[in-house]
Amino acid sequence: MRILFIGSQESRNLFQAAVAEHAEITSDKNADCCIIEIAETQTLFRLPKKFPVPTFFYITKKDRQLLDALTDFKISGIFFPPIKPEEVVKKMFQGNIQTAVANGSEFDTLKAKIIAKAENIPPLPALARELVRLTRNDKTRIKDFVDQIKKDQGLSSRIIKLVNSPFYGVRQEISSIDRATVLLGLNTVKNLALAVSTESFYNKNFSLLKTTGQKIWQHGFAVARLCEAIAKLSGEDEDALYLAGLMHDMGKTVIVDFLVKEAVTIEDERNQLGTDHCAVGELVLTKWAVMKDIAEAVRNHHHMSKDVFSQILYFANQMHKNIDDPEALEDAVADCAFALGMSAEKLHEAVDPVLESEKADNDIS
Ligand SMILES: [Fe+2]
Ligand SMILES: [Fe+2]
Repeated sequence: MRILFIGSQESRNLFQAAVAEHAEITSDKNADCCIIEIAETQTLFRLPKKFPVPTFFYITKKDRQLLDALTDFKISGIFFPPIKPEEVVKKMFQGNIQTAVANGSEFDTLKAKIIAKAENIPPLPALARELVRLTRNDKTRIKDFVDQIKKDQGLSSRIIKLVNSPFYGVRQEISSIDRATVLLGLNTVKNLALAVSTESFYNKNFSLLKTTGQKIWQHGFAVARLCEAIAKLSGEDEDALYLAGLMHDMGKTVIVDFLVKEAVTIEDERNQLGTDHCAVGELVLTKWAVMKDIAEAVRNHHHMSKDVFSQILYFANQMHKNIDDPEALEDAVADCAFALGMSAEKLHEAVDPVLESEKADNDIS
């Protein structure tokens, strides 16, 4: 294959090295496909919106306006520095994108744009990033973070509101982070801070997914606590599974910007976009450098798979989705117990407090 490269010599060399065994970079206008380097927004204005051969953009300037302008272009993929040979080969010669190289279809163009958006999602707030890195064994550092949380008025008051919900079963109202820490433990406060600090990602309109940002967040928070409870019972990493539960529908915040009509099921998403919130969620979490097992569980959360992380997340999601359907809920608990080789009774004991507190919350609103 021959690839026309339009851009600086330095970038051309990088791509030549990356595709070495697969293709030749040329200046010949009759090449099979094309890579165009975009180092400034103005370059975009000089380009046509459609290309005669599959075309990739190499964007060396990160700028919101520029990324938004990309929506008008029919392209097969986008690269950002640093150039990683495996990534270039994967996007251009392997998997689904190969179809894009072959025919440059609109479907794949859309998918490429969604991927670009997922890869450019704003970073997690600094505090949340640190909380993600913390492990349950590192009590001293958790304490430092709780001290930091206390300094943030908004965060503290949201946490205090949450700890007074029925789930935590505290008889007297908790009015300070210190008190919450004494009664519930450092780790719970840490996880609540993590949940609260991701809330802002859901601050947008989700009507095409027939839901609201608040509902998606609340669902993630419930699934996080279900995952944590199941993990505790099965001796898995509770913190990691809490995080998987919290973030599992994160992909919805990206795909919703590309939907043109309502999408209720995951098939609706795939039919419109060629991808779904599970795959996009995995991309976002990989970008945020969370544990690989977590990102994989997020990718698999709509079907049963073999690894334990994915199974726990899958069943936790099923349980919360069926919270108002006693029969389906019972099936989810029984199937989960069976898959993880535990007693259904014990599993009930672990998950019922979360489910009951959620039902109580539903009754109020
Ligand atoms: Fe989902
Ligand atoms: Fe979900």
